Amino acid sequence: MKQFTSVHDVANPKALVESALKLKHAPVGSLKGIGAGKTIVMLFFNPSLRTRLSTEKAALELGMYVIEYNAGQGWQLEFEDGAVMDGDKAEHIREAAAVISQYADIIGIRTFPTLAARERDYSDFVLRQFIRHATAPVISLESAIRHPLQSLADWVTLEEYRPAHRPKVVLTWAPHPRALPQAVANSFVEWMKMADVELVVTHPKGYELANEFSSGLAIEYNQDKALAGADFVYAKNWSSYREYGQILNQDISWMITPEKMAHTNNGKFMHCLPVRRNVIVADAVLDSPASLAIQQANNRAYAAMAVLKDICEAL
Ligand code: CP
Repeated sequence: MKQFTSVHDVANPKALVESALKLKHAPVGSLKGIGAGKTIVMLFFNPSLRTRLSTEKAALELGMYVIEYNAGQGWQLEFEDGAVMDGDKAEHIREAAAVISQYADIIGIRTFPTLAARERDYSDFVLRQFIRHATAPVISLESAIRHPLQSLADWVTLEEYRPAHRPKVVLTWAPHPRALPQAVANSFVEWMKMADVELVVTHPKGYELANEFSSGLAIEYNQDKALAGADFVYAKNWSSYREYGQILNQDISWMITPEKMAHTNNGKFMHCLPVRRNVIVADAVLDSPASLAIQQANNRAYAAMAVLKDICEAL
């Protein structure tokens, strides 16, 4: 693998899931040779708890050096070609990416969308500018439109709890007080299309995902109907793509409660975290044995390990 920005960068996604599961059960300390002498530089333009810590843990387990930089707290970078830099932006992406590439064997970037400039966000502008100007491979630590490390960890978790039959997986929108990116939902459906599952997506009207992600999906606007017989319920809020970045609905009846889970086939609850308790999901579901949210977060480390291992071996 030369970069990791979406499932489309992965030759065999199922094999990557199997690699993560294998790495999870490797003896402690046995993997240090894989990344020995190699360095990952991770740039965070936006906050993170899980991605930051799990990717650092993964890199350390593989014997890598880890450098982290809070890019959001540094001076602002200029990303536009031909810019006259007489404003508040102190450094151009051309120099920044070239310099970081000298320190790094792999570069990780976390960058959220503006939720205002749809075309720019959906070109994954910041991530693509790093890829364009860096000479080291780039991995997404969540970009404007995708969160592939999360989706890989989600698939790993699904495999660990896969029932004997082909599972029904429901991605459901849930309310949230703030406008959130579509990245987790976009990425989840993109990866689940490659998995052996029945995928159903449910959300209020107006929350349709961009065509490149929603094409071919089964959409059910009635949440109760969608949840019927589900083996896995993946809850997530996202803001509208059509009315870009807007909150169209805060209908609390979309929160996942024990009553909602009663429609499922003794289903498991999933969420990428962080989660708003009693807004997205009721305490009684999140604190129940049906919740896999903590296991998903644990699998973030093994997902990152599988990706870093694959890239290290290709360096
Ligand atoms: N799920 C996830 O990406 O969490 P963080 O934002 O804390 O990294």
